[in-house]
Amino acid sequence: MRVTATVNGELREADDVWEGESLLYVLRERMGLPGSKNACEQGECGSCTVYLDGVPVCACLVAAGQAAGRSIVTVEGLASGTELHPVQEAFITAGAVQCGFCTPGLLVSAHDLLARVPNPTDLEIREALAGNLCRCTGYEAIMAAVRLAATRQGGAHAHGEHR
Ligand code: FES
Ligand code: FES
Repeated sequence: MRVTATVNGELREADDVWEGESLLYVLRERMGLPGSKNACEQGECGSCTVYLDGVPVCACLVAAGQAAGRSIVTVEGLASGTELHPVQEAFITAGAVQCGFCTPGLLVSAHDLLARVPNPTDLEIREALAGNLCRCTGYEAIMAAVRLAATRQGGAHAHGEHR
């Protein structure tokens, strides 16, 4: 089947999609967007998190057919051209990226949190990122990155153009 959806603001088509193929597979293998990672393919790790109609979801759990006609934003879509989003910059500054496998999903989840809660408490950050597993960092650098992004954004861009 053919699946047509808006991906990072552009109308995209994928042909020969099999029934039951995941949105994650289509994004990575058919649309050339390898940012979203496939670590568990079972909805357990959050490394495949993308926005679907403005709501973060695990792309490995969404059938591609379910995404037809809808709007998807991947980690690639958080940046503006070559300019990284402040959340992305903050992860680099805070050293929150080690192997990087968890990073794309964490960025989408953190982006969503800061759009809803510009100045989150540590508890709110932990709750928002609870579905995103990281085996490398011990989470402290990730917490620092989200705090830094919140400070840098100052709430001013809380409801950015990517929602
Ligand atoms: S790859 Fe989707 S949740 Fe792990
Ligand atoms: S940086 Fe390796 S899993 Fe998070």
